[in-house]
Amino acid sequence: MRKSLIKISTGLALATIVFSGSVLAGEEAVMNGDIANGKKIFTEGKGAAVACMTCHGPTGWGMDAMGAPRLANIGYPYVVKQLTDLAEGRRTPSGAGAVMPVFAQALTPQDRRDVAAYVNSLPIDGPPELSDLNEIKASGQPVGQRYLGEVLVKYGVLGKVSACQSCHGYNGRGAAPIFPVIGQQKYTYLVNQLHNWREASRTNDPYGMMRAIAKNLTDDDILNAAAFLALAPRTTAGNSRVPDTTH
Ligand code: HEC
Ligand code: HEC
Repeated sequence: MRKSLIKISTGLALATIVFSGSVLAGEEAVMNGDIANGKKIFTEGKGAAVACMTCHGPTGWGMDAMGAPRLANIGYPYVVKQLTDLAEGRRTPSGAGAVMPVFAQALTPQDRRDVAAYVNSLPIDGPPELSDLNEIKASGQPVGQRYLGEVLVKYGVLGKVSACQSCHGYNGRGAAPIFPVIGQQKYTYLVNQLHNWREASRTNDPYGMMRAIAKNLTDDDILNAAAFLALAPRTTAGNSRVPDTTH
């Protein structure tokens, strides 16, 4: 690896370094799963693994009430990595997600690729099922300010926090294979993960990238970023290189 690359500390240069390292086996970066078997696991479960759609929703859009993330189209290699980390003890969630390691262990490595391929195959042009921030607020959970979250996601905090989109792409729409989609992810899940990294109860981020970011976030930063991201549009008007949708 050339030294000059390392000196550039932008997210994109980091992505180049990570990708040329061995965080992901090349195999996982290329979709390599049986969608039909993945669909069966997602809708019916397998052995000790309860049907994924029970918590992640029939369309894979996640559920705030369960703290369950959206899995649909957040990135095939990312889902394979998380299931592998969950199965092998590198990610041990608390709360409703505490069951995930058992479920991931009930799947073979090929099953994990299959279910990841299935959730990655779900149509992206349907209406997004976004978090209902008003309902979440009404239930008594704190909800941040979207306009402040947008500033953080787009520009970061000088000298403290890199812009989220420098790694996660415009409005958090993802940059496979390393950086998951965080735009239009579920609000509750976003808040939980940012806390987990800040408290270092989740430590499976390559090179500690997310822990380094989260340690400089305030409670309000976390709520604001999550409020913006949960509803963030993934397309820019007039960009012919992205699917022409209004959301
Ligand atoms: C009982 C509810 C429940 C069921 C059933 C369930 N999950 Fe989960 N899952 C969760 C929760 C809650 C989390 C969030 C864990 C955390 O907070 O870290 C999660 C996290 C995940 C993640 C991490 C996603 C990310 O963005 O990092 C993956 C992948 C996943 N689940 C896949 C599956 C698959 C595949 C199945 C079916 C075999 C399944 N889950 C079944 C509740 C569930
Ligand atoms: C230096 C690059 C980098 C920057 C900047 C960055 N992230 Fe991340 N983020 C990552 C990586 C890498 C992962 C995947 C971790 C893993 O593999 O488990 C990640 C994962 C996440 C996840 C988990 C998604 C999921 O489905 O589990 C959330 C949420 C997140 N980042 C939010 C943010 C927010 C909010 C910001 C800005 C305040 C931010 N990130 C800035 C690199 C970055």
